[in-house]
Amino acid sequence: MVYHIPWIYTPVRSVLAIWHQLTKAEIPELAKCSVLMRDRSRVEDTIYAMQRAGAGRLQVISDFDMTLTRFAHNGKRVPTTHNILDHRLLIDEDCSKKIRELLNTYYPIEIDAGRTAEDKLPLMVEWWTQVHELLIQQRIRKDLLAQAVKESSAMLREGYKVFFDRLTEQQVPLLIFSAGVGDVLEEVIRQNNVFHPNVHIISNYMDFDQTGVLRAFQGQLIHTFNKREGALSHASGLRVLQGRPNVLLLGDSLGDLTMADGVSEHQNILTIGFLNDQMDERKESYVKSFDVVLVKDETMEVPNAILKYITSSTDNKLDA
Ligand code: TMP
Ligand code: MG
Repeated sequence: MVYHIPWIYTPVRSVLAIWHQLTKAEIPELAKCSVLMRDRSRVEDTIYAMQRAGAGRLQVISDFDMTLTRFAHNGKRVPTTHNILDHRLLIDEDCSKKIRELLNTYYPIEIDAGRTAEDKLPLMVEWWTQVHELLIQQRIRKDLLAQAVKESSAMLREGYKVFFDRLTEQQVPLLIFSAGVGDVLEEVIRQNNVFHPNVHIISNYMDFDQTGVLRAFQGQLIHTFNKREGALSHASGLRVLQGRPNVLLLGDSLGDLTMADGVSEHQNILTIGFLNDQMDERKESYVKSFDVVLVKDETMEVPNAILKYITSSTDNKLDA
């Protein structure tokens, strides 16, 4: 009704126009050609609502491998937490060969745009189970993990320090939700000096015997397509995340979109998806599923810019 009254219609329109100009100027990174958005104004409205609510109402949920870590560097793939374990100190050649064969068989299935998540689910269980069994047979020693990480080519995305440090400064909890190996993940962020107290991790943790030798994996297996179960059973119980209904979610797989399913009474969720591989085949489904898609972008530039904007009201309050 209000829109039919001309003298109200015009001001409302100009306010909206000014607002659109404002966000363009506030977050110029969203105009990068690697950024795809299904509905730009929804993204802007969500960011604006999250900014108004402030850092105190925000939580960040992120995947790890190929989301916080780079996909490739100088034309070479960057290892995932599982692949970091493929080190001569930890496993023998035969095991290394088997793990690589499994990767070559199952990774193409994981990213196959032609198969549904339900199709992939049992195959992912097969992949993870076989790899974990092989690792257990190798009797991996806990005290050698740090050295394996140090000698690996593991690499967090450019701008990672700004991301982790900003969240810590603003006292925003960061939940890293990974189907990788938790012990290795922790070591990667520790060695990069960003394992801050606001970082919480849900992942596959190793279970060592009294002598520090791997004997099993703890708890229920997490793979790429069962994160929803983990979100409901673990993340929803995390006290530090309660009272924070706004969620910034980062992932590189469609399975990562369920990582926020444990957030009760959520108000605003903004999902950012890194499209690292099989760009042409997967672009359409990523744009349909994530609010913001970053195509072949190895940096944290866009998440950092969004985060800076959302938490800017707290900056103002601190400056005042
Ligand atoms: P993420 O949930 O932190 O992304 O970790 C899961 C990734 O790990 C997934 O994309 C596939 C990858 N992966 C390997 O690289 N090697 C392996 O042996 C397994 C089981 C998974
Ligand atoms: Mg990932």
